[in-house]
Amino acid sequence: MKGIILAGGSGTRLAPSTTSINKHLLAVYDKPMIYYPLSVLMLAGIREIMIISTAEDKNRFEDLLGNGSAFGLSLTYREQQEPNGIPEAFIIAEDFIGKDDVTLILGDNIFYGQGFTPLLRKAIKNHQHATVFGYRVKDPERFGVVEFDDNQNVVSLEEKPEQPKSDFAVTGLYMYDHNAPRLAKKLKFSKRGELEITDLNKEYLKRGHLSVELLGRGFAWMDAGTHEALFEASEFVKITQQRQGFKIASIEEIAYYMGYMTKEALYQKGKALEKNDYGRYLLDIATREHSKQYWDGQDHSPMLEVLK
Ligand code: G1P
Repeated sequence: MKGIILAGGSGTRLAPSTTSINKHLLAVYDKPMIYYPLSVLMLAGIREIMIISTAEDKNRFEDLLGNGSAFGLSLTYREQQEPNGIPEAFIIAEDFIGKDDVTLILGDNIFYGQGFTPLLRKAIKNHQHATVFGYRVKDPERFGVVEFDDNQNVVSLEEKPEQPKSDFAVTGLYMYDHNAPRLAKKLKFSKRGELEITDLNKEYLKRGHLSVELLGRGFAWMDAGTHEALFEASEFVKITQQRQGFKIASIEEIAYYMGYMTKEALYQKGKALEKNDYGRYLLDIATREHSKQYWDGQDHSPMLEVLK
């Protein structure tokens, strides 16, 4: 399974904060926004990841994350010239995907909740052609909406419908087989001038190849695409982190627990950032005895073994 993070777009909804910088490099509380989707792919066990951004910002992402080897990943970077929509990512990444399956995550999406890692791994294991993740929201008309029957079979999909057929939004996390680039090329631009991910999902649905996984109550899914949403996401991360003392989306912590990063490398990274809380958090993990017990209060050891 390959991974793609789509971090393009013009970020106009966050201007002027995004006039000279890509929105995915802005901080969500104590770390850059892109750490959050990257952490999701890492938890899913995906290690070959392409980051698609704007031409101006490609180097900035590379400055931040390099070739990924520090985190046990292989990161490559590519440009999306124009904000032509989510499915264009598959056309841009066609050679990268090759004959593999691919998971795409939107760069401003934040997922957090107990049991998410096993859910991701189960979704990958069961994945056949296309899998989307549904989440109940109060304002489904703002999203792609999935309607399904009692057996969780997808019945319909609509992009930002005026009269939503369900309360379930399709989140910005998608898994496809290697046909995604071929099918994406057939799509037509929508009224808003973009290729729509909902149209790609409809192509899979037409063939009876679309499944939906539901993220239950108690789970947090947010995007950080407006000032309001960005502020709320920061607040959520701050409050959650302060209560338990676990950081959300610390890619160094995940790399360490996955066995991709040595204790020594984690220690050095912590040392370099020692003046702030983020660095001290890494130092604390690197110097703690039996630190795997502190992962998230659950025993993930079988998963950690699998992922090594
Ligand atoms: C996009 C998709 C929509 C999906 C949403 C998730 O919306 O078009 O189907 O529900 O991402 O964040 P957009 O951000 O382009 O409005």
